[in-house]
Amino acid sequence: MKLVEAIIRPEKLEPLKDAFLKYKINGLNVRQVLGCGNQHGWTAHNRGTSVIMNMIPKIEIKIVVADEKVEDTIKVIMDVARTGEIGDGKIFVKSVEECIRIRTGERGDVAL
Ligand SMILES: Nc1ncnc2c1ncn2[C@@H]1O[C@H](COP(=O)(O)OP(=O)(O)OP(=O)(O)O)[C@@H](O)[C@H]1O
Ligand SMILES: [Mg+2]
Repeated sequence: MKLVEAIIRPEKLEPLKDAFLKYKINGLNVRQVLGCGNQHGWTAHNRGTSVIMNMIPKIEIKIVVADEKVEDTIKVIMDVARTGEIGDGKIFVKSVEECIRIRTGERGDVAL
């Protein structure tokens, strides 16, 4: 199991939810976050001027999927969230030890 964590543009959340439904990717956590990437939150970073980091609102989504669904999940996120402009966001993938469905006690991929 893997945790796929993606930071995306806020306006991409709704289309991404629709795409997850379509591709049967279930279970999702969403948070509003503030962050910055390589440009420190500015579209044009002027060298030589002292620039304070500027925090831009983004959406963080967390989704735990079976190993064999990781690449599909990444592809769906890339297809929906990519504009090609700076600030499109990032995807992080982490290993997950275990998942337990509280209602039934099922464990592992079947509990996802
Ligand atoms: N290394 C990182 N660690 C944690 N969060 C990050 C990291 N890089 C970016 N983020 C988060 O992702 C958001 C979008 O990052 P962004 O797409 O601007 O990355 P970038 O590396 O600057 O790429 P680009 O050059 O395409 O803009 C940031 O606002 C921040 O919330
Ligand atoms: Mg950036």
